[in-house]
Amino acid sequence: MNPSIPLSSPDITEAEIAAVTAVLRTPQLSLGPELHAFEQALAAYHAVPHAVAVSSGTAGLHLALLTLGIGEGDEVIVPSFAFVAVANTVLQVRATPVFAEIDPVTLNLDPNAVEAAITPRTRAILLVHTFGVPAEMDAFADIARRHHLALIEDACEAMGAEFDGRRAGSFGDLAVFGFYPNKQLTTGEGGAVLARNAGHADRLRLLRNQGRAPSADWLDHAEIGYNYRLSDLACALGRVQLARLEEMLRMRREAAERYHALLASIPRLELPQLTVPRRTISWFVYVVRLPHNVDRERTRAALAERGIATGRYFAPIHLQPAWRAIAGTSADAWPITESVARQTLALPFFNRITPGQQQLVADALHEAVSSSR
Ligand SMILES: Cc1ncc(COP(=O)(O)O)c(C=O)c1O
Repeated sequence: MNPSIPLSSPDITEAEIAAVTAVLRTPQLSLGPELHAFEQALAAYHAVPHAVAVSSGTAGLHLALLTLGIGEGDEVIVPSFAFVAVANTVLQVRATPVFAEIDPVTLNLDPNAVEAAITPRTRAILLVHTFGVPAEMDAFADIARRHHLALIEDACEAMGAEFDGRRAGSFGDLAVFGFYPNKQLTTGEGGAVLARNAGHADRLRLLRNQGRAPSADWLDHAEIGYNYRLSDLACALGRVQLARLEEMLRMRREAAERYHALLASIPRLELPQLTVPRRTISWFVYVVRLPHNVDRERTRAALAERGIATGRYFAPIHLQPAWRAIAGTSADAWPITESVARQTLALPFFNRITPGQQQLVADALHEAVSSSR
């Protein structure tokens, strides 16, 4: 049965449709004025000098690592409680991802665990602002400075989040965003890399466009590059979404607050924190943690029977079959990650989820959790 309450849903208004249609009436569907305007708007929003739009968050992570010159023999510290591209892209540049443990409350990398994982081969920390809750940026900036490491922020889940009043994505040497339709801001597929250094921005632009120098002929390639461009159609969509971001983040925060009120009475269900000191959360997903004695798959099946979609955000990377096969990773190495990942359940969450839909989810969850005892 098709779920009648989806896990996520993009929020596209007539303004986005008009903006994309307007591009279709021009001859410039790629590398045109919308690309430039979207990049300018992203840079201005984050108060950083450069933004480079790319075809996905994964492409952004790949280019960020290449731009910093990370490669064979280098180690990059990453969380295992994250989307798989975080570690895959490190392998794809022939470097070694080193997993570090997370903080059980914020679900972000634990600065002490990161510091303990540093070796003479460590080149960078790739941290994720998990579920839109900013990581402890002052601690990570301090570690990076003391150990001479590059800092890459994966802010794919955190556009608009803030730490001490500063936007996620404005702290690292480079920061990566993703614009898949489940994200706070979508371009269908897409992403961006923010840079503070003009040299990094130039290199990102060269690599995303088949290694072409900016003024070079279409068939002149200074370097081995990629086609990681983002079309002007996507950029036009992104520009309208960015202009609506504040309104969209408000709808998401209100939806999170409604869930909180509806779910608070379910015994031993752990709810995400509505506020975290020094942070403004950009709500990406609404993830609860089931009591240890409740079977998550049975709970998911019970909700699915009522047409309610759920997710397992996140399955630890080190336990993925592909990772066990390649890197020989095994269970029990990162116990907090594994224990949290066994309990998490992402509930339907999107800008226009209605109070009525949330009530249905709450009732179904209440019943499923109560009947598990
Ligand atoms: C933390 C994180 N990093 C990277 C990505 C990859 O982004 P994309 O799907 O646009 O390649 C995602 C998106 O799912 C993500 O959540």
